Amino acid sequence: MSSLYGGATHRRVTIADLADAKARGEKWPMLTSYEEMTASIFDEAGIPVLLVGDSAGNNFLGLENTIPVTVDEMIPLVRAVVRGSERAMVVADLPFGSYEQSPEQALATSTRFFKESGAMAVKIEGARISTVEKLVATGIPVMGHLGFTPQSLHQLSGYKVQGRTDGDSIFEAALALEKAGVFAIVLELVPAELAARITKALAIPTVGIGAGVDCDSQVLVWTDLMGITKNPPKLAKAYRNLRTEMLDATKEWAVDVAGSRFPGAEQSFK
Ligand code: KIV
Repeated sequence: MSSLYGGATHRRVTIADLADAKARGEKWPMLTSYEEMTASIFDEAGIPVLLVGDSAGNNFLGLENTIPVTVDEMIPLVRAVVRGSERAMVVADLPFGSYEQSPEQALATSTRFFKESGAMAVKIEGARISTVEKLVATGIPVMGHLGFTPQSLHQLSGYKVQGRTDGDSIFEAALALEKAGVFAIVLELVPAELAARITKALAIPTVGIGAGVDCDSQVLVWTDLMGITKNPPKLAKAYRNLRTEMLDATKEWAVDVAGSRFPGAEQSFK
């Protein structure tokens, strides 16, 4: 594959492609997706990795945060994203409570995602070394996630930057995860300098979200990127204002319905 973004389209992106991109110093974008339509748009746009994040909880399922999301809720979303894409690697986020008990629990959950949704990799939060080793040994690519880990929202006392005072422990955790076999690590809400230090030290790609510009990749929740989220976090940038666009379109159509201007002749049948 020549380049990850806008590269070959005849097959899915693999973890080897991501390793090659790191070796070439090529940066790449990752987006969340929770259903078929956005998956197909982002895939057509050349996004090489789609994450079916448990951020589906607050961005798709109407929940307060990611914690209540279940495996049974996530599997149909991952399946839809796999069906909606042809090229992107699709990563399934393992929900809170579905992997922490033991490597065996994590393997059982990941196996469900692989068999029932077609996911090509899983993501887990925290430095769970023996779990990563077990999954990788079984043939399941794992993406790590350090810094602010949303499933620990209450333990971390809210959405706060991590690693300002204990940067070394995040650095060490990143090294340990790489050694255990993860193919990439999400760094969320960490100081840019720490993310840059980790990125430089690792042979695998880092994926930043609120972690500065030096990460190998950047991920955003798609509704933040498109300006749909009502109260977007500071780490996000809206490149469009689809909330307003959709609101306006909905109101225009509703007014046309009330005024008998929809359907018009073009939408009617003889
Ligand atoms: O669930 C999610 O969308 C995530 C990303 C923000 C990394 O974990």
